[in-house]
Amino acid sequence: AVVSLPQRVLTGRHVIVTSGPTHEPIDSVRYIANRSSGAQGSAIAAALRDLGARVSFVTGPAEVPPPEGVEVIPVETAREMREAVEDALPADAAVMAAAVADWHVVNARQGKIKKDGSGALPDLQFAENPDILAWISRLPQGRPGLVVGFAAETDHVLENATAKRARKGCDWILANDVSPATGIMGGTENAVTLISAEGAESWPRLSKAEVARRLAARLADALNARNNP
Ligand code: CTP
Ligand code: CA
Repeated sequence: AVVSLPQRVLTGRHVIVTSGPTHEPIDSVRYIANRSSGAQGSAIAAALRDLGARVSFVTGPAEVPPPEGVEVIPVETAREMREAVEDALPADAAVMAAAVADWHVVNARQGKIKKDGSGALPDLQFAENPDILAWISRLPQGRPGLVVGFAAETDHVLENATAKRARKGCDWILANDVSPATGIMGGTENAVTLISAEGAESWPRLSKAEVARRLAARLADALNARNNP
């Protein structure tokens, strides 16, 4: 009998990866940012590319350069990132590794906000950014077959990440502890737990490159298992 085993290849597949921080302007010279280096997202894009996927890499202003051999779509804000992801659809899978800023400044100014000498503080008003992961996970039409998110937590990591997966409607969440003491944010290693409908699976502390290879292999298995049941 011919047995078709799931193959760890992504040839012919299109995967969207978001990566890096976003920058949310306060005025023409200032912005709100976060400590994401883009290292994990870049590594994931490279690993998917290595398995033959066509990768749309939607990246905020990251420290780590994007990999070769992927389509790089640079953005600055969360709102731009959401639009770039929408423009990149359709896709077989999406991996949202970006550290998207949760808020933007509604009354961002053209030019530079100046001190007026009176000690008055700038009156910044915030609005919530679009949740790109929740949006793509709940697309009524054209939802990628597999949607993967990250859950950056500092406390109650598994509990919060499990709730986050349910709330956002994604298939998998990679939970990671980004407490400063772990050195993960901005570091070269990551310690993640893969949460899916099947439960939680903790991976050992690995290089970000190795986390990326494992994730890419799992993603290939999942997509290929569906196509060759
Ligand atoms: N995410 C997103 N768009 C946002 C916020 C988050 O796509 N506006 C994605 C991230 O890329 C990540 C996942 O959602 O894959 C979880 O991000 P996280 O910041 O941990 O979750 P939040 O829902 O923003 O919750 P909080 O920051 O309050 O913990
Ligand atoms: Ca957040």
